[in-house]
Amino acid sequence: MAAAVVRSDSDALSETDTPLTRGVLAVVYAAAEMPLEDCKALMDGFQAAMARGLAGQESDLKMLPSFVTELPTGKEAGTVYALDLGGTNFRVLRVVLPGDGGEIKTEFRSFALQQCHMTGCGEADLFPFLASCIKETVEQLEGSLPGADEPLPLGFTFSFPTQQSALNQGTLISWTKGFCASKCVGCDVVAMLQKALNALGVHVVVKALANDTVGTLMALRPKEPNTSLGVIFGTGTNGCYVEQMSKIGKWTGGDVTSGRQCINIEWGNFGASVPSRKLLPVTRHDEALDTESLNKGEQILEKMIGGMYIGELVRRVFNAAADAGEIMSGRKERIEAGGLNTELASAIEASDAPGLVKILEQLGVPAPAASDAKALQKIAMAISGRGARVSACAIAAIVQHMERVGTPTVVGIDGSVFKCYTNFKARIEACMRDIFGDDALHIKLQLSEDGSGVGAAVIAATA
Ligand code: BGC
Repeated sequence: MAAAVVRSDSDALSETDTPLTRGVLAVVYAAAEMPLEDCKALMDGFQAAMARGLAGQESDLKMLPSFVTELPTGKEAGTVYALDLGGTNFRVLRVVLPGDGGEIKTEFRSFALQQCHMTGCGEADLFPFLASCIKETVEQLEGSLPGADEPLPLGFTFSFPTQQSALNQGTLISWTKGFCASKCVGCDVVAMLQKALNALGVHVVVKALANDTVGTLMALRPKEPNTSLGVIFGTGTNGCYVEQMSKIGKWTGGDVTSGRQCINIEWGNFGASVPSRKLLPVTRHDEALDTESLNKGEQILEKMIGGMYIGELVRRVFNAAADAGEIMSGRKERIEAGGLNTELASAIEASDAPGLVKILEQLGVPAPAASDAKALQKIAMAISGRGARVSACAIAAIVQHMERVGTPTVVGIDGSVFKCYTNFKARIEACMRDIFGDDALHIKLQLSEDGSGVGAAVIAATA
């Protein structure tokens, strides 16, 4: 029999959610439902936070100007390198832009960061390593290093909250996604990369700094001229969009000929303040995960959606339900920390009954009951389904803010969760239909393959 647990305040989902005792699973399943009125309340709160951020007021949403004010047309030409850093694995790309709207050619090398790069000293460990990987790639792909008279341009995709003061200048505001390298926060990351390249004698010039969302938007735009948003659903999550300069009250950078600019919302941080957190269907499992994270109290929305977190949330809920006696019939095995990543959560959702039993066995539960295996699948569906609904609300809020409801709008999206997670895209679309009805059909979620790296190269080419 399921043991009832006392609902904590943080399990509160809405005003109408009154029972004082509910089971672990009931709370998690209810959180995943997100009825339409909760979606609309979240959209309203999101838009209010956007407006505050644009006005330069205190807000969960930083609304960072990207200094990208011209959108690409496909006429950009040249060979440009890109460094795409946003997670444990990063890439150095060589991008050849044909200039005639034709096919963009890319080659790349992938590298993995060690723990010492992510948590050591930025100046001594991380940036010198990045520069050495750029050097290695350029040497391999060009056959030799460029001379001082012919430096190669590079676009730097840096997927962390960064306050830019120019296209090629930006100060790291805070680390996310498990990074905590010292001597980086408050520093100009372009200057740090350039210094490390210079120290190696590599004639590569960092021409532009771009968030991955901005790159994603830019990379898709020439092919899909209605692209107005760029989104990442990967290890972390975030969105950007094209804003009218007249609405960016905090802008002090002077006239912008195009009258518009790409704004990096940094939406992952929504929920950092109490009023906005109340609009998200957070449970005590989210709060526990947050408490144990490196950036406690920050990136609350990201911690519900990001690939770094979905699998871990599924694990926590499964174990909590077992502790409460709702599943596992008194068995003592639990899924170990780090044992269930988001890729596996996606596989769990796609599995049939025998497959689920096998997965639970791999997770340290020999000969599990079919009902426990099924519960694991239901938990995964609830966690990712909730993530998809929250994602849909964020996209819908931006589309509405841009006054584009009913107007053909393309959202350029990249990231492993979007590309690979079972049914993630379809669930976002379903929630947008709940919100906008048939008008949702005008919003196209389009993969912008390799967008984050290619987009930075495109920006650097025009710098
Ligand atoms: C960062 C964003 C980034 C997103 C997706 C977040 O953790 O703060 O800058 O766009 O991850 O990579």
